[in-house]
Amino acid sequence: SKEELAERIRAAKATLGDRVAVMGHFYQRDEVVQFADFVGDSFQLANFAKARPEAETIVFCGVHFMAETADIVSRPEQNVILPNLAAGCSMADMADLDSVQECWEALEELYGTEPDADGRVPVIPVTYMNSSAALKAFCGEHGGIVCTSSNAATVLQWAFERGQRVLFFPDQHLGRNTAKAMGVPVERMPLWNPRKPLGGNDEASLGEAQVILWHGFCSVHKRFTVGQIEHARAEFPGVRVIVHPECPMEVVDAADEYGSTDYIVKAIQAAPAGSTFAIGTEINLVQRLAAEYPQHTIFCLDSVVCPCSTMYRIHPGYLAWVLEGLVRGEVVNQVRVADEVAVPARVALERMLAARP
Ligand code: 13P
Ligand code: SF4
Repeated sequence: SKEELAERIRAAKATLGDRVAVMGHFYQRDEVVQFADFVGDSFQLANFAKARPEAETIVFCGVHFMAETADIVSRPEQNVILPNLAAGCSMADMADLDSVQECWEALEELYGTEPDADGRVPVIPVTYMNSSAALKAFCGEHGGIVCTSSNAATVLQWAFERGQRVLFFPDQHLGRNTAKAMGVPVERMPLWNPRKPLGGNDEASLGEAQVILWHGFCSVHKRFTVGQIEHARAEFPGVRVIVHPECPMEVVDAADEYGSTDYIVKAIQAAPAGSTFAIGTEINLVQRLAAEYPQHTIFCLDSVVCPCSTMYRIHPGYLAWVLEGLVRGEVVNQVRVADEVAVPARVALERMLAARP
């Protein structure tokens, strides 16, 4: 039963004490989040993983790329566990190393490899945190950087200072929404479809490009629509509509505000009692916020359901299983990034952690 599982998790955590640190992403279900020592967005969790050097093991309740990141930034002696190894991210899977390398070669052919008079290289690769460690390593090796949804503008600014243009992957929406807010015209952001020659573009549009957007998206966030926003406003006049930047551009444009999960949490925390919020992000976070802030009216823009099905694969049963394994001295479901990938990936991650607005 739920209670028995909770009791097993509690008991294992009590035995392990500070030897284990449990991290939980905002999108995890409540039955898991209640046991997390740290809860946050993907940027905060990467920092927390660095900040617990005394823990022998980090149990990461999130998805695979987050556990990889924790392994890369933590001490080499620390083990990182993903309670269910099948918890991936469909967006991260949309950009594989081979396709990105092919794209890179095509861009090199088109733009050359020489810096301009200001020392800016032809292209800076920027990968969203939601990508494999191999792609972070690619960025590390090619003068590039990682971003999350909470620092995408800062990171793009960093990239524009060093490059004539940016190749942004895997999430087209985060890339487009962020660059558009920074003043990049939408027509100078061609989409790169890895299945087509030149990504499906002609050389002229690539010649004008400032940001080349990979053809990836989040299947949870792409479900939100302008119609849902109109409906929420009709039903609740004065509602504050906040959406995640993984939503399509027209949805971000129609919303009152957009921001990372941490932005959404802080906006709700800071609001005067009695506020009404329509939120465009994953349902587990929205429902938890609604329960935590009963003084407000908080609901999800999508009234059907929009859970992240892979985040949901971290069932409390798996958490109990991995923690009990640790009590017996067994490290199960370890996520380990090989050094030849981890070293350059860390370069790209450290550039992100050091980039300041
Ligand atoms: P953030 O945690 O950066 O807001 O990202 C949301 C997300 O989709 C994580 O997978
Ligand atoms: Fe990936 Fe979207 Fe789930 Fe985040 S919410 S883990 S981007 S599928």
